[in-house]
Amino acid sequence: MQSSLIDIQGRKISYLRVSVTDRCDMRCVYCMSESMEFLPRPEVLTYEELERLCAVFMRHGVRRIRLTGGEPLVRRDIGDFLQSLGRWIRPVSSAPGLDELTLTTNGSQLGRYADTLVGAGIRRVNVSLDSLRPERFSAITRRGDLHRTLAGIHAARDAGLAVRINTVATKGINDDEFDNLIVWCGEIGADLCLIETMPMGETGEDRRAQYLPLHSVRLNLQKRWSFETADGATGGGPARYVRIAETGQRLGFITPLSHNFCDSCNRVRLSCSGQLYTCLGSDGAVDLREILRSGGTDSDILDAIDLSLARKPLRHDFLIPDNDAQVQGPARLMSVTGG
Ligand code: GTP
Ligand code: 5AD
Ligand code: SF4
Repeated sequence: MQSSLIDIQGRKISYLRVSVTDRCDMRCVYCMSESMEFLPRPEVLTYEELERLCAVFMRHGVRRIRLTGGEPLVRRDIGDFLQSLGRWIRPVSSAPGLDELTLTTNGSQLGRYADTLVGAGIRRVNVSLDSLRPERFSAITRRGDLHRTLAGIHAARDAGLAVRINTVATKGINDDEFDNLIVWCGEIGADLCLIETMPMGETGEDRRAQYLPLHSVRLNLQKRWSFETADGATGGGPARYVRIAETGQRLGFITPLSHNFCDSCNRVRLSCSGQLYTCLGSDGAVDLREILRSGGTDSDILDAIDLSLARKPLRHDFLIPDNDAQVQGPARLMSVTGG
């Protein structure tokens, strides 16, 4: 293999998140505004362009790719792209290529795509689900249909995919549902991950009122459930897991605000328009599309990646203070880089 990607703090980058589209069939309140305007199509990288960039990353030590969006499964011909990327999955991890290809999805299209994902070599998916109550689910997602998402999750399980449910924990919105979600995940054999809300872009939401620090949630849950040390697959990602003895499933906590994980960050993110962001929590990016479309070589692309890693922040800028001080976070919306 050629040289690895190492950032200015000495952190090795082995994980790439790729947003394949900024479009989505939902409008989750914490992610997008109701009147979202999407990028004109010519600004979005073609699958060939995306794969070329992914190949440069993989040849330089990226072993995991997670596709995100927007909603990755609403992009046309996504199945063909998954097949193509899936060819990079390697049974032996010494060869350049992927240990894992995964996906984060809102589940609406999983009924249609579960078998395609398995065929492409995907073994696990993360599915966003903030409520098990139909009306509340519709209110949070604005356009989602709970029954359709649940059918998608069941299709994924039936196709043999491991499923982790992602729940953004928001005060006064879904903080009375965590026990139900734990029980339900136990019943369907899925892990559950609670996520602190991050102030990404202006969505018209009151981030301070909705912010729920997960350490208090964890202490409360621990009074009712027995937490054991968790083993099992992780993406080397931000979730800290326990296993719930009563259900046998894992429960993860993602706590960028109350307890960040930036010291061990292994990841960068590519937007669907070819911007390389080295941190979810800051707006600095390098334009790889410009290099691609002006005839740049792979070596030019690699130089630009190295340059952006030399600027990768030590930690994110998110801040939701509990006084009147200003909430702090990047200007771009979560849907630009899919988290
Ligand atoms: P793994 O691949 O298993 O590590 O999954 P993941 O938890 O990284 O991926 P997922 O797409 O399910 O994201 C879950 C939550 O973690 C989302 O809210 C993301 O925004 C958040 N997240 C993922 N990576 C980072 C990161 O580097 N920094 C911060 N602050 N949040 C992140
Ligand atoms: N804060 C935390 N998580 C978020 N997600 C989307 N927006 C936010 C936010 N502002 C989650 C989605 C999805 C994952 C990619 O990120 O629910 O599960
Ligand atoms: Fe769509 Fe995911 Fe954003 Fe919800 S969080 S609007 S499902 S991209």
